[in-house]
Amino acid sequence: MIKNKVHIYDTLSGVFEGLLSYIDHCIEHNKLKGYPLNIAISGGETPKNFFKYIKDNYADVFQWRFVRLFWVDERCVPPMNPESNFGQAYHYLLKYASIPETNIFRMMGENEPEQEAIRYAETLATVLPCKNNIPKFDIVLLGLGEDGHIASIFPDQKELLFSKRTVEVATHPETGQKRITLTGKTICNADNVWFLVTGKSKAKVLKRIIRKEKGFQKYPAAHVHSISESAGYFLDKEAGEFMKIKDVPTKFLNPL
Ligand code: 6PG
Repeated sequence: MIKNKVHIYDTLSGVFEGLLSYIDHCIEHNKLKGYPLNIAISGGETPKNFFKYIKDNYADVFQWRFVRLFWVDERCVPPMNPESNFGQAYHYLLKYASIPETNIFRMMGENEPEQEAIRYAETLATVLPCKNNIPKFDIVLLGLGEDGHIASIFPDQKELLFSKRTVEVATHPETGQKRITLTGKTICNADNVWFLVTGKSKAKVLKRIIRKEKGFQKYPAAHVHSISESAGYFLDKEAGEFMKIKDVPTKFLNPL
């Protein structure tokens, strides 16, 4: 049985409402201490749907000025390229949100990849608090690929999970596209790591990871799941269809 916090909802809007209420709770928690909420977000369809939901329902009420937005990974393309994770967040949410520009710390996909990995690592070291001598996020929000990848750490590049650097250049295994990605040590150093996973296509890889089924170690997500004690899941019932109480005790949300 795993100890991770798992929240499963019947509908996509239920997942997003649950995640938003958690994030808002964390904002309030940090506000009491006079700190912003430092959150790193991923790209992909699931996060895109989440951004759209916020835009449609909370764009003007979300406490943007208390949030500092970072990226888990970025494709090495210009920001307005359809492939860009920042471009996706901007198009579906940020252009409607009153988030101060100074609260947005995008990875610059238009830069030379290695130079950008260095620049972004320096940015994190400058603007984030430290824990274990590593820049510390309050929340890292991960998607999950069907191949078990997280961020831009793919099964054939698992060394990025163990890199001594906080940000690295990755390569997409099929397209060869260069990516900028947080490394395993930065992701697992966060106070809270949450997987946002929806849809039937993710159910099998999730089950393999949760139940540690044969070959689960090849999935980068399995590393984060096991290393980051705070790793939790926001799932819809399709992605969580294999979750049985025997695998996963559902716990209440814990503040940061
Ligand atoms: C990216 C993401 C990647 C994504 C997963 C899940 O740049 O593509 O950071 O890690 O989050 O592949 O994406 P989907 O939600 O689209 O399946």
